[in-house]
Amino acid sequence: MPDSKPDLRLVLHGAFAVPALSLFGELGFADRWVRGETLDVQAIATERGLDGHRLAALTDYFVRYGYLERKGAAYAATPLGRELLAVWPAGMIFHAYGPLLADLIPVVRKEKQYGYGKEVTRDIALDTKASGRMGIAWGLFQRVVGYLVQHRHTHLLDFGCGDGTFLEYAASQFPDLSVVGVDQSATAVANARKRFADAGLGGRAAVFQGDLAEATAFLDDPKVREADVATVFYILHEIAHHGLDTVRTFLRQYRQRLGHVKLAVTEYYRPADDAWPSYMDRGIPEVVLYHDLSNQRLLHRDEWLQLYESEGFKVLDHLEAQQPGVPATVGTAILTTG
Ligand SMILES: C[S@@+](CC[C@H](N)C(=O)[O-])C[C@H]1O[C@@H](n2cnc3c(N)ncnc32)[C@H](O)[C@@H]1O
Repeated sequence: MPDSKPDLRLVLHGAFAVPALSLFGELGFADRWVRGETLDVQAIATERGLDGHRLAALTDYFVRYGYLERKGAAYAATPLGRELLAVWPAGMIFHAYGPLLADLIPVVRKEKQYGYGKEVTRDIALDTKASGRMGIAWGLFQRVVGYLVQHRHTHLLDFGCGDGTFLEYAASQFPDLSVVGVDQSATAVANARKRFADAGLGGRAAVFQGDLAEATAFLDDPKVREADVATVFYILHEIAHHGLDTVRTFLRQYRQRLGHVKLAVTEYYRPADDAWPSYMDRGIPEVVLYHDLSNQRLLHRDEWLQLYESEGFKVLDHLEAQQPGVPATVGTAILTTG
C-alpha cells in the first residue's frame, strides 16, 4: 500500500523523468548508456543539430538523481541509471499520452475530445515504438513466435500491428512465414511499411489501414483470407471503449470469415479490485490509469475469457507473460472455434 505521507519529490520527479527517458530512448542515448558508453552530449548535439542547452539541463538533472555521472565533458550511466535507462520504452509509452495529460482540464470539462482523429490524441509513433520495444524486451513477442514455430504456421495476420515490430520479428525468425498487418493509424501503417522495406522482407510482408470496429471492410481481403494464424496485441480493449458489443461484433465477424484460424489474443488484464495491494508496483496503477483516462476498457482476465467463450471461442492455450509467483497483468489466450 502507498505510504501514509505523500512524497512530493517522487511525484514531481516522474513528471520530468518520464519525458526525459523517452527522449533519451528516442535519441539512442539510453541504449548506448546501458551498453556502458560515455557520451559527449554537447558534441552529439552540435553534430546532429539538437538543442544542447535543454539536453544539458536534462543530463544535469539525471546527474543530481544519481543516474548519470560526469566524465570530463561527457556523461556515463551509473549502475542505478543503467537500470532506469534500460526501461526507456516504459517511459516512452507514458510520454505518448502526454497530449492527453496536457489537455486534461479541457478534456474533463468536455471542451475537447480525446481519441483517434480527435482534437487531442496520443502520439502514435511513440506509442507503437515503445509498445514494440516492450514486446521484445519483455519476451512477449518471442513467446508468441515460439508458438507459431511449434505449430508450423506459414501465414500470420496481426490486427493493430502498430509499427510492425512484432511482424518483422516473426518474419525474421521464421523464413517461411508471410505476414500481414492491419492498423487504424496512417502513421503506424507508414512506419510498418518502412520497417518491412528496411528489413528487406519484400513480398513476405504487407500492411494496410483498417479499423477493427469495422472489420468487414477488410476481412474479405485475399491477403487476410490467406492467414492460418492471427494475433492481436492490446487492441480489443481499445475497441471496447465503444462498448463490449463492438468487441463481440469483431469476434463474430472473425468467426464467420476466419473461424478455422486460431486467434492469439494478448491483453493487459485489470487487476481484481481486492487484489490491488499485490499490484501497486511495476507501474501497474499508472498503466491502468492511462488506459482509463484514454477511454480504453481494461477487463479482468476472467471477463475476457467469458467474453471469448460467449462468442463461441474455446481457449486452447494460455501464454502468460509474467515470471512464476508474480501476479500476471499480461497474458495471451490462444483461441479456436474448432
Ligand atoms: C499500443 S499499440 C500496439 C501495437 C502492437 N500491437 C504492439 O503490440 O506493439 C496500439 C495500436 O492499435 C492500433 N489501433 C487502435 N485502435 C484500433 C482499431 N480500432 N483498429 C485498428 N487498429 C487500432 C493503434 O493505431 C496502434 O497502432
